[in-house]
Amino acid sequence: MQQYSRRIQSLGESATIAVATLARKLKADGKDILSFSAGEPDFDTPQIIKDEAIRALNCGFTKYTSVAGVPELLEAVANKLKRDNNLDYNASEIIVSNGAKQSLFNTFQALIDEGDEVLIPSPYWVTYPELVTYCGGKPVFIPTSEEYEFKARSIDFERAISPRTKAIVLTSPSNPTGMIYTREELESIAQIALNHNLWIISDEIYEKLVYEGKFTSIGSLNDRILQRTITINGLSKSVAMTGWRMGYVACKDKTLIKYMNNLQSQCTSNINSITQKASILALNGAADVDINYMREAFKERRDIACNLIGEIPGINIKKPHGAFYLFINIQNISGYNGDSMKLCKALLEKVGVALVPGSAFGMDGFVRMSFACDLEQLKEGFVRIAKFIKES
Ligand SMILES: Cc1ncc(COP(=O)(O)O)c(C=O)c1O
Repeated sequence: MQQYSRRIQSLGESATIAVATLARKLKADGKDILSFSAGEPDFDTPQIIKDEAIRALNCGFTKYTSVAGVPELLEAVANKLKRDNNLDYNASEIIVSNGAKQSLFNTFQALIDEGDEVLIPSPYWVTYPELVTYCGGKPVFIPTSEEYEFKARSIDFERAISPRTKAIVLTSPSNPTGMIYTREELESIAQIALNHNLWIISDEIYEKLVYEGKFTSIGSLNDRILQRTITINGLSKSVAMTGWRMGYVACKDKTLIKYMNNLQSQCTSNINSITQKASILALNGAADVDINYMREAFKERRDIACNLIGEIPGINIKKPHGAFYLFINIQNISGYNGDSMKLCKALLEKVGVALVPGSAFGMDGFVRMSFACDLEQLKEGFVRIAKFIKES
């Protein structure tokens, strides 16, 4: 008999968290490290949200709540989805979890049986394939190319569909590339999902961080698509609330929501009660001024970063339209042959710059650099990268 379950042994540590942890350790050891690996805003949570949390605490709002969240919170999510995304959900079609990560965990657990296939465009956010595999499912990657802005086309999905295909994962804006699907592109992908009766798992966590173009929720295209869509979102990235742990799933299939409720009731129950109160305020728009301010700041950093990349021979980039990551092409840096892991290790050792290898996202030849950090750090990072490339 195995000492540990096969299932748990197949689960790897998140590559992005691993790099961030290593960078933190080196820093604690006194090394001069600039980390661009984190996937979180460097801004503090808006004061108005913090004040609401303090109020909830002082009022003694410190007990268990219903598993999916208090009714007022579920209403606030439903209203937000209607107002911002033109999505029609009732409170009973929503469940709030400990970050979008748990929302995704619940979703895959509720949908995937042994051998079921899930189509995941690559490069992908590191967690999706791990969660699919953990349920016994099979991630089927849809390769994309820089030439087509890292977008999976409907024909690419069509080719990968088998009788075991159950769902498509869409991330727009994307982590790690920052690309955003247009309405027309979503329409053709949605048509494929309808033709083959697939679920669309739409991760919309970067929805507020859009610098060019327009964000569209795939579920808003029409009612038939809405019925097949599982909308995932949360407050981590948009309101700088990563540590508060607030994510949610919205889905018209009440049975699926009920199953997720059952699962969550057996493992974590409701999310933190204080976070719930603060989240209601954020969802109702109380922090919109701060959200806009952060977006403008990210846009400025993106523009400066892309200009700096343009000045460094050996690297280049397709300007991201959303999120806060640069997915940098490193294939022309001499001596590395596009090996992103080797390059990231050397960058960390030689100039103290922590980036995440593209191989962690399923695409070698690229590295991911977060620009959710202050401008001075960003500029200094590029000075070091330029020096490194010059000397390699
Ligand atoms: C694409 C994507 N989805 C979901 C998440 C998870 O966010 P949360 O903090 O809400 O769990 C992340 C975080 O990095 C992400 O990049």
